[in-house]
Amino acid sequence: MITPSAPPRRATKVPRWVRGVLAAGAASTLALGAVAVVSSSASAAASTLGAAAAQSGRYFGTAISAGKLNDSAYTTLAAREFNMVTAENEMKIDATEPSQNQFNFGPGDQVYNWAVSHGMQVRGHTLAWHSQQPGWMQSLSGTALRNAMINHIQKVMAHYQGKLAYWDVVNEAFNEDGSRRQSNLQATGNDWIEVAFRTARAADSSVKLCYNDYNIDNWSYAKTQGVYNMVRDFKSRGVPIDCVGLQAHFTGGSSVPSNFQTTISSFAALGVDVALTEVDVTNASTSQYSALTQACVNVARCVGITVWGVRDSDSWRSGESPLLFDGSGNKKAAYNSVLNVLNSVGGSTPPPTTAAPTTAAPTTNPPTGNCTATISAGSIWNDRYNLSITVTGSTTWTVTMTVPTPAKIIATWNITATWPSSQVLIAKPNGNGNTWGVTIQHNGNWTWPTVTCTT
Ligand code: G3I
Repeated sequence: MITPSAPPRRATKVPRWVRGVLAAGAASTLALGAVAVVSSSASAAASTLGAAAAQSGRYFGTAISAGKLNDSAYTTLAAREFNMVTAENEMKIDATEPSQNQFNFGPGDQVYNWAVSHGMQVRGHTLAWHSQQPGWMQSLSGTALRNAMINHIQKVMAHYQGKLAYWDVVNEAFNEDGSRRQSNLQATGNDWIEVAFRTARAADSSVKLCYNDYNIDNWSYAKTQGVYNMVRDFKSRGVPIDCVGLQAHFTGGSSVPSNFQTTISSFAALGVDVALTEVDVTNASTSQYSALTQACVNVARCVGITVWGVRDSDSWRSGESPLLFDGSGNKKAAYNSVLNVLNSVGGSTPPPTTAAPTTAAPTTNPPTGNCTATISAGSIWNDRYNLSITVTGSTTWTVTMTVPTPAKIIATWNITATWPSSQVLIAKPNGNGNTWGVTIQHNGNWTWPTVTCTT
């Protein structure tokens, strides 16, 4: 358990469990003019954390720092192992709004672009927090601060509208005794958290809105109960909240409590996703990493796990060697313990309850050039699915992909992408060949996108 002066032991955030399955079973192939549509199978891969987690529709993520993206050992390792990214500092308030109403999305966009160019999803972190406020915000109070918080949420979420999987809307707003933490935000009125969530929903209805905190791992701990009661109250009154993040910083001597799974399942029972959002463990205890992973996979709505850094040398607590890779990028024993747990549940996940996208492939796409775009099914989860696209006939192609509303294209890889809207993607080669991919959040419409290929 962390104390206010010690580094926090964070409770795990558990993103909603997307019961995913990898697309299975080859299906029909349609070659229609310039566009061929192929339903194909994808097999479970289980040699990396992301692939192992994906077998049960979960993700495995890491915190990424923009300043390390020129370190090829770091990026190679991160790209290989993870499929979710949280910007460690670059989307925080001081980074995105250094002067009031003057926004800087450069570093945040660096992290975002790196993630999506490697086929990863992104968690936004964080919009309203007592810490890492820019100086101008620290000096505000009352209505001026409330309005500044609202404006910040609106502007930052507008920038990333339709692009992120989750947003940590409010971070670390409770004391250890379960009461609200005193802060300039809290002093604007006890309703500041729900105002933040309502503002967030209005700003971007496509992203899941999370409350994120540490030391909410132990079900019988007062802080856990304080947060639980707030989420229960929000759900009962219709305040928009979709997920709870248990940071799960088991550092500074704290350890995974025996009732950790009860905490996860209790939050999930309120109707929210749960995720472990900032995991690290003192000296990377294999038994604790194994236990926290098992607790997550045992709860359907525990949607994923994010570790707070790639290698020990990247950790905010590097002296405790708390991560899954050593400073040289070697897998530690804890890595194998996590991978083994993820693989042990890999094949046991039930299929999605909704129709697979293979049921509604496009039927008409007239030729518009000397190239052909062939679409193949990739992984499928409850809320989204991947497609792989291979272009033949040209190396200087432009593919325009249009997905029917309310579906959205939320990630791409191996292309240079421009986005006229969340429904329209213009893809050009980025030097990595002619096979590329997209993730589509279906929002209830599984109809595959249409594509046209021009040269
Ligand atoms: O980049 C500057 C550098 O230019 C300067 O020389 C140096 C001097 O101190 O500071 C550097 O910035 C530091 C930054 O990390 C990047 O390393 C900040 O001082 C330091 O405060 C900041 O710490 C971050 C901390 O949040 C701030 O609260 C950690 O990296 C980050 O891992 C940590 O993450 C938090 C989560 O957001 C919320 N949950 C707890 C978690 C761990 O504390």
